[in-house]
Amino acid sequence: MAIEAKKSSPDRGNGTGNGEVVISVKDLWKVFGRDPMQALAQENLRLGKKELQENLGLVVGLQEVTFDVRKGETFVVMGLSGSGKSTLVRCLNRLIDPTAGEIYIDGEDILQADHQRLTEFRRNKVAMVFQHYGLLPHRNVVDNASWGLEVRGIERTERYSKTQEMLDLVGLNGWESSYPRQLSGGMQQRVGLARALATEPVILLMDEPFSGLDPLIRRNMQDELIRIQQGLHRTMVFITHDLAEAVKIGDRIAIMRDGVIVQIGAPEDIVLNPENDYVAEFTQDVRRESILTANHIMADPCTIVPSHKGPEEALQAMRADESEVALVMGEDDTYLGILTMERAHSAIQAGVGKLHDGIEDYIYTDLDPVPHDSALERIIPICMTCEYPVPVADESGKVIGVVDRQTLAQAITGGQ
Ligand SMILES: Nc1ncnc2c1ncn2[C@@H]1O[C@H](COP(=O)(O)OP(=O)(O)OP(=O)(O)O)[C@@H](O)[C@H]1O
Ligand SMILES: [Mg+2]
Repeated sequence: MAIEAKKSSPDRGNGTGNGEVVISVKDLWKVFGRDPMQALAQENLRLGKKELQENLGLVVGLQEVTFDVRKGETFVVMGLSGSGKSTLVRCLNRLIDPTAGEIYIDGEDILQADHQRLTEFRRNKVAMVFQHYGLLPHRNVVDNASWGLEVRGIERTERYSKTQEMLDLVGLNGWESSYPRQLSGGMQQRVGLARALATEPVILLMDEPFSGLDPLIRRNMQDELIRIQQGLHRTMVFITHDLAEAVKIGDRIAIMRDGVIVQIGAPEDIVLNPENDYVAEFTQDVRRESILTANHIMADPCTIVPSHKGPEEALQAMRADESEVALVMGEDDTYLGILTMERAHSAIQAGVGKLHDGIEDYIYTDLDPVPHDSALERIIPICMTCEYPVPVADESGKVIGVVDRQTLAQAITGGQ
């Protein structure tokens, strides 16, 4: 069975949904070295990172990087160490000046910004969260978290009120007057996050924010970030080494190698259709059951019989379809339950005229349809306790497919 990934958009570089583009990056280059423009010379364009370094002494940080991020999207960048992730994110707030290319943030060409404009831009439009929290040791939690607002010149009462809101949001209520040294790593990172969110930035840049945390705390922070993002819908660029984290957090993922984006796609695109061995290597250890949904693997509904038909007709239909079971539908195609061949026989013997007269005795009604976007990990326990195919419903509750045990097992193990 072939498993098809949902395509996030026809052009994978172009952000999901129809929201406005907030970050637009086009043909971005960053080359480190004495004469970086050499790397862009016509005769050198086909050289890879290694050759440029060996032949010209230039280090490529980014090479022809192009992508858009839409409002409210969480865009994850991942790749091995040295692949250019930090260089990319630092170009977005111009901590690094690119060698060539274009960057528009919120419609503004930020590569044209002068010093003053850049300061305003960094104060008002972007916020960054780093792996090492960057907290000021002599300031307590509330003063660390309100730092961005203080720099903006917001007066104390307003500053504290906004900051308190964010501290509550990240779960630090009660810790306002503690100092960084009194906090665990996870808590310090929450302060970093509150500080970034307090300024209500147009874009939030996060460079491996959770990499320094223990696995348990890290998972916890990921869940928190997802929860916060569901409420705030910030436009985020999130960097990580970890595909499981990328898949969990990202609406789309860009995979980088040697300064080049080698694939951009929705998490399931990346996992199901890795474009090359480098990407496939990352996806190997990902838990497929957490990414794939019923949508990806469901088959057409097996035999369907309306409840006003009799068990005889149901049996005939099942035989014609070579199906062991039938889905019984009531009025308006509402799903009522599952009929097996065996139970159809019993219903015939018992003289049941129409299926709806024998619902309680012959139709298995304990299995509710699962939503089509349910992750397979939610369907596994259902399949474990029930021998029948699990019906899958769309948003309106209409049954649009079924998932059976065998398909589920194949999908999880990758045996397609
Ligand atoms: N200031 C610099 N001078 C010279 N080369 C640099 C500089 N900064 C980065 N590089 C090079 O650019 C490339 C990309 O580095 P970058 O820090 O962006 O990688 P990364 O993907 O963030 O790696 P990591 O996962 O280790 O943080 C690397 O080859 C690095 O050596
Ligand atoms: Mg980095």
